Amino acid sequence: MQTPFRIGQGWDTHRIETGRPLILAGVQIPSDFGLAGHSDADVLFHAVTDAVLGALALGDIGMHFPDTAPEWKGAGSAQFLEHALKLAAERGYRPVNVDSTVILERPKLKDFRGAIRESLARTVGLAPECVSVKFKTAERVGPVGEGRSCEAQSVVLLASQKA
Ligand code: C5P
Ligand code: MG
Repeated sequence: MQTPFRIGQGWDTHRIETGRPLILAGVQIPSDFGLAGHSDADVLFHAVTDAVLGALALGDIGMHFPDTAPEWKGAGSAQFLEHALKLAAERGYRPVNVDSTVILERPKLKDFRGAIRESLARTVGLAPECVSVKFKTAERVGPVGEGRSCEAQSVVLLASQKA
């Protein structure tokens, strides 16, 4: 019998850049700037992917999807999370719940909470009630607060299907 539960934590940050889209869990947010990155720079999907990988001590997103690889240029980040979930399923684990926080000074994200939560829940294969998405400013302090970057954090609990 394997450990019944495993917990993982993920964190990511991306630079703010004009002329790029702002995508959070696959949802494009209306904004006059976006996030720089090799992929679509979906900081929230990246943090949740690292939380799933972390729960099973399978390294990090860059190990599985190097940002130097041409095949991931402009890639939709749902596939990174789907890959991490597949690795978890192969080991007999599936997610129980996801909690997350996006830290961004502007624009306001709360009107998009439902859409982001539903998209994340759909990708993870959970009911929206089991997926939490929180938003914070950085109170105008540091790179996030000065509008130079966006961060996301996540915690994911996995349960064994073999227990
Ligand atoms: O960071 P602060 O606590 O001041 O955020 C206040 C509220 O504003 C939060 O509860 C959050 O839901 C919302 N918020 C938002 N979009 C952001 C940052 C915060 O909707 N980019
Ligand atoms: Mg990233």
